[in-house]
Amino acid sequence: METKLFSITKGSNLSTTLLDAADIIKSGGLVVFPTETVYGLGADATNPTATSKIYLAKGRPSDNPLIIHIAKPEDAEIYTYTNSIYYLLAEHFMPGPLTVILPSRESIPLTTRGGLQTVAVRCPENRIARALIELCDVAIAAPSANLSGSPSPTTFEYAYADMNGRVDAIIDGGNCDFGLESTIVKINDDNSLTLLRPGKITKEDLEMIGLEVVVANAVTQTLSEGETAISPGMKYKHYAPVAPLVLLDGTKEQAAAFISENMSVDKKVAVIAYEDDVTYLSDALPYADLYKFGARGNEEEQARLLFKLLRDTDKNDYSVIYAPLPDTSGIGLALYNRMIRAAAHNIIRL
Ligand code: TXA
Ligand code: MG
Repeated sequence: METKLFSITKGSNLSTTLLDAADIIKSGGLVVFPTETVYGLGADATNPTATSKIYLAKGRPSDNPLIIHIAKPEDAEIYTYTNSIYYLLAEHFMPGPLTVILPSRESIPLTTRGGLQTVAVRCPENRIARALIELCDVAIAAPSANLSGSPSPTTFEYAYADMNGRVDAIIDGGNCDFGLESTIVKINDDNSLTLLRPGKITKEDLEMIGLEVVVANAVTQTLSEGETAISPGMKYKHYAPVAPLVLLDGTKEQAAAFISENMSVDKKVAVIAYEDDVTYLSDALPYADLYKFGARGNEEEQARLLFKLLRDTDKNDYSVIYAPLPDTSGIGLALYNRMIRAAAHNIIRL
C-alpha cells in the first residue's frame, strides 16, 4: 500500500493540513499520528472493519484491546459509562497522558476492545492529536504505532520505519514530548485505582488527589504460571531487543567490574549509561560502546530517550546490552516497568 506523508511544522495551519488525514480515518483508513507519549496507529474506533486493520498492520493479537482517543473528557459519555472518579481524574490530568478503563457502551465494537466489556479511554494533550480527533468527530482507536513486540516509536523516523507501506498515511509531528506510553488505571468498586501501566502521571500524582492506588503485580513482576493478566497487554513480550538486555543493579564501579568479568574477545558490548558515569565507564570499559541515558535523576530525559536507545542499539548487532536498573519512585516506575520487560526480567544484583 502506498503511504501518504503529511508534515506539520510550527507555523502549519493544523486544520488545513489535517483535513485529508481526517477524511482517511472517516472513510475507514489507517493514519499514524503523534501524541505527547508515543506515535499512535489510528482508525475510527466505532468502525470494526477499520480497527481490525490496526491489528493486521501491527501484527497484534486480536485479544489485545485498543485505547480510544477522545477530544474532550465529556466525550467519554458517548462510548462508556463514566463515574465521579473518572471526572476527578479528568479534572486533574486531562488532557494528558492518562488512560482510564471504563465499562464500554455498544458504540464501541468488540473488535476495538479485544472482546472485553470495558474500554480504555484517553484524551491526549498533543495539539496535532487533538485537532485530528476533532476533525474526525469520532473517537480514534490507536495503539502505539510500532510493529508488535518492538519499542513504541517516539520519533517520526521510527514510526515511518515500522509503518510505511502498512497504513494509508503518516503525520510527521516531530519527536514525542514524553517518550513512554500513557499511565493506565482501572477504577475499582471501592473507588480505589489499580495502576495497570505506569507512565508520566505517577502513582504519587494519583495519590495526591486523594485516591488509593494499588500497583498491579505485573507492573514490577513476572506473571506467575496460570495467573490471568488484568490488562491483556501484560502477558505479551514487549520491546525485546535482538541482543539480550541485562539490567545491572549496583554502583558504576560494580557495573564496570561485572561487565569486564563477563567480557570475551568475540563479544560486542553496548552500555547504556547515565551521563554522570560516562567518563568513568569509558575509561574502565574501553572496548564497549557507550550510549548516554541522560543525567542520573533526570528521569524525564531518560523516559524521552529509552525507546530510541533500544532501537538504536538494536541496529548495531551487539552480543549484549547493559543498562542500569532504575528506582521505582515517580517516573522511575515507568522506566523500571519498560526496562524489565525489554530485559525479560534479566536483572543482576551486584
Ligand atoms: O500513550 C499511549 O497510551 C499510546 C498512545 C498512542 O496513546 N497508546 C498505547 O496503546 O500505548 P497500546 O495499545 O500500545 O497499549 C494499550 C494497553 C495494552 O497493553 C492493552 O492491553 C491495554 O492498554 N488495554 C486496552 N484496553 C484495555 C482494557 N479494556 N482493559 C485492560 N487493559 C486494556
Ligand atoms: Mg504498545
